[in-house]
Amino acid sequence: MRERVQLKAPAKINLTLKVVGKRTDGYHELETVMQQIDLCDEITIITANEGIEVSSNNSEVPSDASNLAFKAALLIGEKLGLNNGFRIYIDKKIPIGAGLAGGSTNAAAVLLGINEMLGGLLDLGTLLDLGLQVGSDVPFCILGGTALARGRGEILEPLPSGLHLEVVLVKPPQQLETAEVYRDLKLYELHDQPNNRAFLEAWHKCDIIGLAAQMKNDLETVSITKCPEIVVIKERLVSLGALHTLMSGSGPSVIGIFSDREGAEKAWQTIKGEYQESFLSSSYSR
Ligand code: C5P
Repeated sequence: MRERVQLKAPAKINLTLKVVGKRTDGYHELETVMQQIDLCDEITIITANEGIEVSSNNSEVPSDASNLAFKAALLIGEKLGLNNGFRIYIDKKIPIGAGLAGGSTNAAAVLLGINEMLGGLLDLGTLLDLGLQVGSDVPFCILGGTALARGRGEILEPLPSGLHLEVVLVKPPQQLETAEVYRDLKLYELHDQPNNRAFLEAWHKCDIIGLAAQMKNDLETVSITKCPEIVVIKERLVSLGALHTLMSGSGPSVIGIFSDREGAEKAWQTIKGEYQESFLSSSYSR
């Protein structure tokens, strides 16, 4: 077994998020386009004699089993009957509690990293299964790139990498709990839901204007009630030239889509003076 691996764990944004219904297992049935972006945590995994240890440059990152990276290491160790343990260091750049799958992408990196240390013992299907046991967004974070996700988020249809998206991402100071946002969602109040078919047509044509017009997120209204700053950021990004703005996942991060890098960079130069957690980013494929 290799003793050490280091890998990037990219954030995810949702370009559309349609809630199709509530399931009997408590989860929601989704139809969502997910996209990796080049805002990444850096994960280092080192073999240890026993146990799992997680540490980070960010004191808000839990070091116990509530950390999804910890859970992932435990799960893959059990699956393979490993006798040794792992020390995991998370260099955190992705905002926490932000709707960017920060915890899920760390878990995905741990599964991919430990599998790499073992010379690729497990196939992709097994890694995706283990990922889903950790969280709904983990399978996508393993697969990467761009995908249309259904079910809880684990039924993945990879999309060809088309448009290179230029993004300004802003996280308001507040954090939101995904479970709480879903709990407060009232399905009967949903209207003007995302049209994923129209989105995909625009995606395949590389039509940025058509694409921007189809970017919608059913969770936005609920998250705005909890964090009204989302609206202020959306308006600010439009005033700085964004083609369209959208909350990612359960929020409260907001993304602004720009037609070119220069426009995005100019907007970011201004907004980073107003919001501490502002990032200039673009689409990424592992
Ligand atoms: O799967 P994960 O643990 O990341 O999900 C966190 C919470 O988000 C779940 O407990 C559930 O309340 C909600 N959720 C949902 N439907 C999904 C994904 C997440 O209701 N498809």
